[in-house]
Amino acid sequence: MALTDLLDLQLAVPDPDALQEFWNRRGLLTTGPGCLGTPERASQLRLIDDDYRHVSEVRVACSEESDLRSISMGLEALGLSSTSGDGWLESVDPIFGHTVRVEVGTAAPLAPATVRTMNRPGVSARIDRRSEAALREDVPAPRRVGHVVFGSPDPARSVEYYVNGLGFKVSDSLPAVQSTFLRCSTDHHSVLIMPAPVPCMNHYALEMDDIDAIGLRGIEIVQERPDASIYGMGRHVVGSNVFWYFLDPAGGMFELFTDMDQIHDDEKWERDVRRDDWDPFTIAAYESGISKMDFFLPVDIDTIAAGRERAGL
Ligand SMILES: [Fe+2]
Repeated sequence: MALTDLLDLQLAVPDPDALQEFWNRRGLLTTGPGCLGTPERASQLRLIDDDYRHVSEVRVACSEESDLRSISMGLEALGLSSTSGDGWLESVDPIFGHTVRVEVGTAAPLAPATVRTMNRPGVSARIDRRSEAALREDVPAPRRVGHVVFGSPDPARSVEYYVNGLGFKVSDSLPAVQSTFLRCSTDHHSVLIMPAPVPCMNHYALEMDDIDAIGLRGIEIVQERPDASIYGMGRHVVGSNVFWYFLDPAGGMFELFTDMDQIHDDEKWERDVRRDDWDPFTIAAYESGISKMDFFLPVDIDTIAAGRERAGL
């Protein structure tokens, strides 16, 4: 059974037009009604209207039709049903209530990001010319949606659903803080499950070309809304990604990231099960300050809880 990619996310928010316009200003293209993407990947974020913000669908890819049958059996073993058709399967996440849709196929390949020539101590690789990074003429847009992080009131059951039901792989786990990094692609994590009192999205993440692209877009966001920056810039310990986290206009946290660990060979990757005295705040090799509680739990968690109650979840 082999999942290959995170294809896109559907986000339900009270004002999808405002969120769409925000992402248009960050360089994502409107590729259809409520659909944001890139020239290479037409659908990365799909936006729909709801009275509280939540993820409403996660779409992933698998290699072949037989994978769908394996997933169906994995779900059945957990006592969960699924629906399927030619080349697809849909399941409802038992904790969150969102749909996970698995499709046979792969995400469109990405053109390699331009590697900028960097001068370093002792290495003058770029001589007699300015860096393209200094010119700000072409501010790079996000390249793809990379991962989504869920806060679950039952992290163990959520991990069981994604791993034993859907076939995600565990990259690293931090048992002391009930957090598990899961992948459905070569990215270190496509989904991260962490604890929360109410099922909620912690953040979604978009991959950028490099640290300059994060800096350029990040400063642009802060210039537009000075209080939008939540956490960063920094580099995570688990996954190694450079990050900067912001709040979007719907109140959802998102991350611009680059340089995440890639896992191609399960045998070679040394899974890290952290010691029990793991400090949950030690999540970055370096970082720029935040109110970390805002990072771990959405500030609008009560609104989300009320929305879920109205929706009968
Ligand atoms: Fe992240």
